[in-house]
Amino acid sequence: MSDASSTTAQFDAVDVIRTKRDGGALSDGQIDWVIDAYTRGGVADEQMSALAMAILLNGMDRREIARWTAAMIASGERMDFSGLSRGTADKHSTGGVGDKITLPLAPLVAVFDVAVPQLSGRGLGHTGGTLDKLESIPGWRADLTNDEMLRQLEDVGAVICAAGAGLAPADKKLYALRDVTGTVEAIPLIASSIMSKKIAEGTGALVLDVKVGTGAFMKTREDATELARTMVALGTDAGVKTVALLTDMSTPLGLTAGNALEVRESLEVLAGGGPADVVELTVALAQEMLAAAGKPDVDVAAALQDGRAMDVWRRMIAAQGGDPDATLPVAKENQQVLADADGVLGRLDAYQVGVAAWRLGAGRARKEDPVQAGAGVELHAKPGDTVRKGEPLMTLHTDTPDKFARAIESLDGAWDIADGGAVAPTPLLIDRID
Ligand code: URA
Repeated sequence: MSDASSTTAQFDAVDVIRTKRDGGALSDGQIDWVIDAYTRGGVADEQMSALAMAILLNGMDRREIARWTAAMIASGERMDFSGLSRGTADKHSTGGVGDKITLPLAPLVAVFDVAVPQLSGRGLGHTGGTLDKLESIPGWRADLTNDEMLRQLEDVGAVICAAGAGLAPADKKLYALRDVTGTVEAIPLIASSIMSKKIAEGTGALVLDVKVGTGAFMKTREDATELARTMVALGTDAGVKTVALLTDMSTPLGLTAGNALEVRESLEVLAGGGPADVVELTVALAQEMLAAAGKPDVDVAAALQDGRAMDVWRRMIAAQGGDPDATLPVAKENQQVLADADGVLGRLDAYQVGVAAWRLGAGRARKEDPVQAGAGVELHAKPGDTVRKGEPLMTLHTDTPDKFARAIESLDGAWDIADGGAVAPTPLLIDRID
């Protein structure tokens, strides 16, 4: 008997779909069966699509979400960091425009003798992927074996690499399906997708950066709070010390969106400089990770100023074949976008800037597409800054100049310039949930 047929006897996919379609709760047995059978090929993509849509429309209760997450964890391997000489802490961001925080954050936390196993992904759509950013560093490689990862965690203290195929394979299959069936935005499915990978990874502490605003999955504070609460409950129930920060994503983080551009900005932060919002969020998340790992009273900001975090960064990049001294790629062409009035920049839309960076070549439309290392958007002003008509608001970078027109189109209406008075910037840190 094949794996698939051995799992199809117990339940019927159509009954499971009907249960959720009609607003019922799935039983533990139904959940275990449907995840297992889907992973093995016994439930078809069209059946799982229908179920995902029923979940998006009718939701799941806390028990169902916990069981769904456990079933996705059980679909693959679990990593074990218990042999390391120090504790572990990880961070997950729900994704945003210009979100390069993982790059300075992982080495910064490792300075304080807490290991950071950061399994990351590639970007799809308007948000960039951490691996795409690091791959702009000549020689750097994302794929490590579990043994290489453990060795680097012990020797350097921080690793940013691709999640292996063995971790929550049910999620890999389901996420790809959700991506093409309009079912990404279901809070139970997002929460279980993120947390199944983080719990299977085996981190001791986890800090979630849940983004709110136009450039984020969650457009409203209410939805972001529900997602954060759901994920914190899943982590806590699984024995992982989990905390969430709700942070603003109505405008891009920092002054760059694009792969090599964001590495360059991260290096500025690691050298003790960089944009204030990137530094603020890096320090806030590092403090939360260290507190969750049992080190609440360390001076995190000092390790950016005195070069300790940069030292760990250099060792972390070199350990994965990267040359920390290499010149970063620069796009072949650039074009400035000019301010159309005098005044104070009141709003600069994160989503629209993210789409512009993506259209310039920094992101991909399909997961097999290549990305341009040098492409993206460099901002010259942020909300609250005074701008003058005719001066550059941003510079667009690409290797393929025929992309400029579509990128500029996506920026139509992306900013407001107020002609008088101060504009209060939106606070970056919105809430904390534990
Ligand atoms: N990131 C994930 O890993 N899963 C989701 O469902 C959404 C964002």
